Amino acid sequence: MALVCVGVSFLFLLFAGAKEADRARDRATGAWSRVVPLIREGPLPAVLEKGRVEAIQVLNAHGRPVAATRGLVGKPPMATFLPASSNVRAARVLCPPAGLKGCMTVVSYKVYQPDGIWPLYIAVPIVPWYGDVTALLLAVCVSVVVTTMMTAWVFRDLTKVVTPMNAIRTELAEITATRLDRRVPVPQYGRYSELKCLAETVNGTLDRLEGAYKQLRQFTSDASHDLRSPITAMRVQLDDALMYPRDTDWPKMTKEVLAGLDRLQAIVTDLLTLARLDAHAPLSREVTDLSELAGAEVKRRAYRVEIVKDLQPNVLIDCDRLRVTRVLVNLLDNAERHATSKVTVSVRAEGSAAILEVVDDGAGIALEHREMVFERFTRLDASRDRDSGGTGLGLAIAREIAEAHGGTLTIQDSERGARFVLRVPVHGAVSPA
Ligand SMILES: Nc1ncnc2c1ncn2[C@@H]1O[C@H](COP(=O)(O)OP(=O)(O)OP(=O)(O)O)[C@@H](O)[C@H]1O
Ligand SMILES: [Mg+2]
Repeated sequence: MALVCVGVSFLFLLFAGAKEADRARDRATGAWSRVVPLIREGPLPAVLEKGRVEAIQVLNAHGRPVAATRGLVGKPPMATFLPASSNVRAARVLCPPAGLKGCMTVVSYKVYQPDGIWPLYIAVPIVPWYGDVTALLLAVCVSVVVTTMMTAWVFRDLTKVVTPMNAIRTELAEITATRLDRRVPVPQYGRYSELKCLAETVNGTLDRLEGAYKQLRQFTSDASHDLRSPITAMRVQLDDALMYPRDTDWPKMTKEVLAGLDRLQAIVTDLLTLARLDAHAPLSREVTDLSELAGAEVKRRAYRVEIVKDLQPNVLIDCDRLRVTRVLVNLLDNAERHATSKVTVSVRAEGSAAILEVVDDGAGIALEHREMVFERFTRLDASRDRDSGGTGLGLAIAREIAEAHGGTLTIQDSERGARFVLRVPVHGAVSPA
């Protein structure tokens, strides 16, 4: 801004200088038109009026001064140069012209007389490039005022930005893992909507962080609780056995403790699986026929209910067989646990997706619980009554496995019971980025 101001002032001064030079030329021309008739027609007084120039001197054809303004009367010629032969006018800066003080522009004219050329010299002050001091002062003053005003304006604007920025920074600095409920102030007024956007984005990020942190805390406390319960139960059993060794049925007690250890092992394995999935551990993928995999899993063991298979052959997917089997096992276990008499397993290809459905004829899952059951350690009340064995991690793991394969695992509407739908890209399909 200051540079623009200096540039404009410079142009203004150049313009003022040009104007002032024009005026000096006009003054010299005015003096010339006043004196030339006196030379030509007479009478030419020995002392000439100065008018608006510094000095005038007329020489005769022999180069002797015959008339001059007051200070030059009786003095030698102030200059000796004449315009070139084709010109009637020439100007030079002389420092100083003879008989005068200081540098001046001397304009020389040729006046043609019957006895020869009479030189006429007119001295005018030198015009500096900036015109005159007034123009220079004006330019400097205006530049200073404009620069000061602009600086003040920019400073005021900067203050408007810096103050809310500082407020955001201070608040952010005070937010810690234990105080994640705090939010940065959102500036409500002012021209800078970017600041409002920044504050809102920061608050959005804090919302998500707080949510993730709460989830993590909940997960840790649920995991600790689920690990502690079997440990406490086993401890009580062992204490009792040691206190009353004779009354203890040792084989029975050992079996019960082993069952508790199995449960502990299952939870720890599930937690490890989740940790690996969270860390996006690489999958060992291979081309697999999903129908074949589902068929083999159904055949692997006997079920309490009837299992109906509807498996379209050659539904190929790129998958980690162990992981997808983990999904199948959990879906089949859940379905068997909740079915009344029948579970249907179907596999088909639909466009670029391979679809596996596990449908049971049990009580189903209410609409409001259909997302909740995928959260870690979620077990609906009905299941707690039915079987205390589950940890509530199965579906969370299954969904993470589906997503790691670029697919989804959801619960869809069905006429009766629960309908779990696994959708993964078929072999060769471009998986979504
Ligand atoms: N087919 C189903 N019908 C009704 N409710 C179901 C069905 N499948 C799952 N659920 C509900 O979802 C909850 C979560 O299932 P999930 O598989 O995650 O845990 P789980 O089976 O209880 O334990 P585990 O970790 O051993 O699998 C179950 O406890 C149950 O309440
Ligand atoms: Mg389960």
